[in-house]
Amino acid sequence: MDDCEAAAVVGCERCPALVDSRSRIVNGTGPADADLLFVGEGPGATEDDRGEPFVGRSGSVLDDALRDAGLARADVRITNCVRCRPPENRDPTAEELGNCRDHLRREIELVDPSVVATLGKVPAEHLLGRSVGVTGEAGSVEELRIGGRARRLVICLHPAATLYDRSQAEPFASAVETAAELAGVDGAGGGQSRLDGF
Ligand code: URA
Repeated sequence: MDDCEAAAVVGCERCPALVDSRSRIVNGTGPADADLLFVGEGPGATEDDRGEPFVGRSGSVLDDALRDAGLARADVRITNCVRCRPPENRDPTAEELGNCRDHLRREIELVDPSVVATLGKVPAEHLLGRSVGVTGEAGSVEELRIGGRARRLVICLHPAATLYDRSQAEPFASAVETAAELAGVDGAGGGQSRLDGF
């Protein structure tokens, strides 16, 4: 379900290898005016099959962390750096990330979140334009100009990291909580509220 049709990409063929490997383009989901946007790397097999980001095992981890932060998936927007599943789940290449950059930038401009939370190394490095050690930097917050204005970016581990190493579960949950607090998102499940309105 995508509440932001304008941000949906249809029929893109910029990356020949991804056109071959994808079943479909996986666009972002969630409110068109979300205050908090999560950005992952790219769709995996389940996402490619179902056409929604983070609906496989990593998605369950993200859902749990959102719930622990008092949120539901319906409170936030979720997207990826590339919208087509790379073959064998390899990382997207620099060229593929570059080809999909305009799609992500446009989604950020349209949704206009105050906080962007990166899920894993690839989106953190892609958006920050520097090398990132996600384990050491998880939970850190940077202000950067992205999609036309200054926003806060929260570095989170990739949720899959918690499946391989349980000790990463707490830092992951804590970074998601930081992102939720900064965005002032409440857990109504039907939208956003800005705490700075009080
Ligand atoms: N991993 C990602 O980075 N994105 C998804 O949508 C699913 C798994």
